Amino acid sequence: MNKVHVPPIKCQGIKTKLVDWIDSVIHWNNEGTWIEPFVGSGVVGFNMLPKQALFGDSNPHIIRFYEAIQRGEITPQNTRQFLEKEGTILKKAGEAHYYYIRERFNQSHDPLDFLFLNRSCFNGVIRFNQKGAFNVPFGHKPERFAPAYVTKIVNQVAFVADCTKTFQWKFVCQDFRETIALASSKDLIYCDPPYLGRHVDYFNTWDEAQELKLYKALKKSPNRFILSTWHSNAYRKNPYIETLWQEFFILTREHFYHVGAQETNRNPMLEALIMNYRPPISEIYRPQNGFQYSLFEPHNSYTVQATDDLP
Ligand SMILES: C[S@@+](CC[C@H](N)C(=O)[O-])C[C@H]1O[C@@H](n2cnc3c(N)ncnc32)[C@H](O)[C@@H]1O
Repeated sequence: MNKVHVPPIKCQGIKTKLVDWIDSVIHWNNEGTWIEPFVGSGVVGFNMLPKQALFGDSNPHIIRFYEAIQRGEITPQNTRQFLEKEGTILKKAGEAHYYYIRERFNQSHDPLDFLFLNRSCFNGVIRFNQKGAFNVPFGHKPERFAPAYVTKIVNQVAFVADCTKTFQWKFVCQDFRETIALASSKDLIYCDPPYLGRHVDYFNTWDEAQELKLYKALKKSPNRFILSTWHSNAYRKNPYIETLWQEFFILTREHFYHVGAQETNRNPMLEALIMNYRPPISEIYRPQNGFQYSLFEPHNSYTVQATDDLP
C-alpha cells in the first residue's frame, strides 16, 4: 500500500498504523463484498478500496456522517465553509463555542457538528453518556481549525466522497451480528470490536457475552474472516485468545500505543489478527521497523517467529 488515507472521523482504537500490516495479511482481491461490522473511523476498509462493501457500526452518528457524504449532503466545499466559520468563532470565543456546538449537536444530531466535535474534542474520543448525549470535553486548542488543518479534513472528506461515488458502498447502523449474517461465501469479514474493558459508552460496550456472540457468529459464517484484537501487554494476556480463538490462525505483531504526548509514554502491546485461513507466510517475514511477528497455527500446534534479525 503506497499511502494510507486517513479518514475524517477519529475514534478510539483507530487502526491507521496497522492498515499496512492488515492489508499485507488480507491480500484483498476485490471479489465479493468487504464486510466490516465495526467500521469506526473506516480507516481499514476504506483503504482496501473495495468495489463492494458493507460498513456497519452501532454508533448512528458515524453511519449518518458517512451516509451524508455518500448522498452529497456533506461535500468538501461545505465542509470547508462550515469549519472555517465555526473555527473562526472558536478561536475568538474559546471553549464556550465548543460547548455551544456540543449542545446543538445533542439536540439536532447534525453530522457536520459531529465532525467539528470529533476534531476538536479531547483526544478525538467518541463517547456518549447513558442518555446518548456526546459528553467529551473540549481539547483545549481554540486555534484548532487553522487553515492547514481545515484543508487536511477537507481532503479527507474528498477521499471518502470520491470512493462513495466510485464504489458500491453501503453504511448501516446495526449490531455486528446482523452485519455478519449478511455475508456469503465469497465475502471477507474484517472485525475490529472494542477491546474488552475499555471505552464503555452508550453505543459502544463490550463484555464477555458480546465476545462469545462474536465467536459464534464468525465460526458459523461461510466466508473468510479476520479479527483484530490484542494478544498481550506487559501485564496481562487476552484471556479469550486461549479460551475462544485458539482454534484459528493467530498472527501477532508488536505495536506501541502512545499515551499522552511524550515519547517515553509508549505502551507496548502485542496486536493479534485471528483468521480462519492460513495467512500468506511470506508476509510475516517481511521486516518492518524491527517488529517481531509470530504465527500460531490452530490449537497452538506450531509456531513460526520472525524478526528482522533473520536472514
Ligand atoms: C475499535 S472501534 C473500530 C475501529 C476501526 N477499526 C478504526 O480503525 O477506526 C470499534 C467500533 O465498534 C462499534 N461497536 C461497538 N459495539 C458494537 C456492536 N455491538 N455492533 C456494531 N458495532 C459496534 C463502536 O461504535 C466502534 O466504532
